[in-house]
Amino acid sequence: MSQNSPIRSFSLHRSVLSVPAINLRALEKTHALDCDAVIFDLEDSVALEKKEEARENLKTFFSGKPLTNKEKIIRINALSSAFGHADMELVQALRPDSVLLPKVDEPQDVMAVSDLLADADAPETLRIWAMIETPRGILNAAAIAEAGRTLGSRLDCFVVGLNDLRKETGVLPQPGRTYLVPWLMQVILAVRAYGLDAIDSVFNDFKEVDAFEAECAHARAMGYDGKMLIHPMQIEAANRHFAPDEAAIREAEEIIAAFADPSAEGLNVITLNGRMIERLHLVQAESLVHKARLISERQTIERKPLS
Ligand code: COA
Ligand code: MG
Repeated sequence: MSQNSPIRSFSLHRSVLSVPAINLRALEKTHALDCDAVIFDLEDSVALEKKEEARENLKTFFSGKPLTNKEKIIRINALSSAFGHADMELVQALRPDSVLLPKVDEPQDVMAVSDLLADADAPETLRIWAMIETPRGILNAAAIAEAGRTLGSRLDCFVVGLNDLRKETGVLPQPGRTYLVPWLMQVILAVRAYGLDAIDSVFNDFKEVDAFEAECAHARAMGYDGKMLIHPMQIEAANRHFAPDEAAIREAEEIIAAFADPSAEGLNVITLNGRMIERLHLVQAESLVHKARLISERQTIERKPLS
């Protein structure tokens, strides 16, 4: 993380489920699902002639039983489309946690929405997420992240969209994503330089469980915080892959304890179980233990019976 960027939020983004706003039955299902966040989609999963109906559905849904313990994100149509401004009015009325902008090409796409929210006196807690899913979006990822973090904007998160990116570039959908890795890693550099979170793209073949598991592991290894999902059956695997495992938590706790020991006072490097440990590992360990705590608190809340 760069020196002058704000601290990255530690909200959990392991499983970010997209739900077409046109599908009332799927919207209602979200109450019972164990995903960390829900994207209410007004964009590509809603046919052009159904956009108005989808907005009405969201009004109904948001005025009903509150969706507790899940971050709420509304994906709008681009401001340049015929629907973007009406979608933004809805965002201002419903006040989700974040608005997700599709096909972000350049910093100006984020700043335009940031300005609209500021003009409407939207609270600072209403944040912006950006889909990075075009060739220009990938090329400009660092500039978008920088502008979104340093010019008073509300940008918190990038979501990679590989369906659009493959369509625009001609890269074939192959297992292992060999030719996409440089772009996926460029997004990771951009988010880490400016303190955002990064969510990996959807995996379309939701019945291919093993291939989905492999892609979650791949995304985790590249440094992604979570995965955008299209189907409830993908939630459990995403929650598992993007959570620290027991061994990693134990090791992190050992590192924290070792640096807390009086014998480590004033030392930047110590030995633990035959390995060199630096203070930078302590920072990593604290962040991992913090994440594990958030997950465990979340599970406790989930288990509580509804009053
Ligand atoms: N969110 C919430 N519930 C969902 C869901 C989702 N994304 N996808 C499916 N479900 C529900 C269905 O409503 C169904 O509920 P029911 O049994 O009470 O009727 C149940 O899960 C099983 O669904 P299934 O029959 O396996 O899938 P489907 O054929 O109904 O739908 C998709 C498959 C892909 C069309 C659907 O999952 C979907 O629309 N996903 C999101 C697509 C999207 O958001 N795209 C834009 C981002 S790329
Ligand atoms: Mg897209």
